[in-house]
Amino acid sequence: MGRAFVYVILGGGVAAGYAALEFTKKGVSHGELCIISQEPVAPYERPALSKGFLLPEAPARLPAFHTCVGANEERLTPKWYKEHGIELILGTRVKTADIRRKTLLTAAGETISYRFLIIATGARALKLEEFGVSGSDAENVCHLRDLADATKLVDVMQASTGGNAVVIGGGYIGMEVAASLVINKINVSMVFPEPHCMGRLFTPKIASYYEEFYKSKGVNFVKGTVMSSFVFTPEGKVTGVNLKDGSYLPADLVVVGIGIRPNTSLFEGQLTLEKGGIKVNSRLQTSNSSVYAVGDVASFPVKIFGEIRRLEHVDAARKSARHAVAAIMEPDTTPEFDYLPFFYSRIFSFSWQFYGENLGEAIYFGDFSGTSFGAYWVHKGHLVGSFLEGGSKEEYDAIANVTRLRPPINDLSELERLGLGFVMAL
Ligand code: FDA
Ligand code: NAD
Repeated sequence: MGRAFVYVILGGGVAAGYAALEFTKKGVSHGELCIISQEPVAPYERPALSKGFLLPEAPARLPAFHTCVGANEERLTPKWYKEHGIELILGTRVKTADIRRKTLLTAAGETISYRFLIIATGARALKLEEFGVSGSDAENVCHLRDLADATKLVDVMQASTGGNAVVIGGGYIGMEVAASLVINKINVSMVFPEPHCMGRLFTPKIASYYEEFYKSKGVNFVKGTVMSSFVFTPEGKVTGVNLKDGSYLPADLVVVGIGIRPNTSLFEGQLTLEKGGIKVNSRLQTSNSSVYAVGDVASFPVKIFGEIRRLEHVDAARKSARHAVAAIMEPDTTPEFDYLPFFYSRIFSFSWQFYGENLGEAIYFGDFSGTSFGAYWVHKGHLVGSFLEGGSKEEYDAIANVTRLRPPINDLSELERLGLGFVMAL
């Protein structure tokens, strides 16, 4: 049993949706393109799962957040794919890939062949078992990567109103889910090994701003330790967690957000990997010229850093996907992928954006006791990163544009004095 396509997108997440839209803009013909996804639904905006999806009132539900609404583009419902002659092969896991033969074998036993393959398999949530803790498949322990996870989290959350939640991890998932749990009237403790939240990005000063607000909402931070074991009822429901520092936290609900691993396993030994992802060039092309990789799974050259990086963020997924399609369909006119890293989050009524990299010395500006403040990072005499909380669209655009230019900075105290005025004036 088998089918043949000119273009196959493997994975049906954010990158897949944006790639599909770009294919139609570049003029793909009916029947040439398919998307294979183990998820049972058409591609959607994954960031909604830790935000609008978890709201107690008027929560976001599909079809409202199918791609590509997140970038103010068309909303690609299953009907859209049908109208554009794009085959959606859903609920289907690819179990092996043969790069030499240009074929994929699905778990259902079907062989799908391609002329061009775009790998958009994203990543999986890490499990506590990988850190020596067992029991994370219990009915009230939740992860958050896909719609099924988010649906389980909503169910467990609704059954836990007024109760206690323990959030394991102080990164993006930890911070966004903790905020949602508070909004759902659940008492939250957050446990993570670092001295402050968002350790990969925030400085202690920035982290402290958000932590103080969380504390004012009743969130209990337990830092510098990790979980050692779950405590269960005889029926297997978790009632609490033991921590390595010897303490115990009661729990009606546990959310685990301890990072991800890119889904590269189908291609290990067949394609070159780097930095945990599938290595691509500035055309998003892997070590095999018929195969491209985009989104969370791809390690690509970030031109302004002069090195290969793997970025786990939605903007990179959207833009790398579009670029790969352009490179396939219009190889002679598509320039090198030149990407400025961009991360953001929205929690409670906060909203921040970050551009570039957090390397070197942080120079702060704005009002850390108010609603708008930020920081620049200066490395080797150049501004290399910018963070802004509570900015306007013009201000966010300005920090993005200036960060891309990496302007020389000779006087740090002058930069501090000018604050946001520095980017608004350029
Ligand atoms: P993505 O994970 O979206 O899609 C991968 C797809 O491949 C999935 O459908 C998967 O099932 C499928 N797949 C994998 N292996 C397969 C196989 N063998 N066979 C078939 N299908 C397979 N970023 C940001 O910048 N701002 C934000 O606010 C957020 N918020 C956020 C919230 C939550 C809850 C999560 C989990 C993530 C975010 N992110 C984010 C990160 C962002 O969502 C992420 O970077 C993108 O989804 C990456 O897009 P990809 O298409 O690469 O992977
Ligand atoms: P993360 O890497 O942001 O944070 C992981 C956290 O878990 C860190 O605080 C880390 O120290 C902690 N940790 C690691 N091992 C631990 C252990 N054994 N016990 C306790 N804590 C441990 O990852 P995440 O928060 O799980 O997010 C997953 C993915 O989702 C990331 O790719 C992220 O970019 C994406 N995401 C992004 C956003 C956003 O950009 N706004 C929002 C949600 C999710």
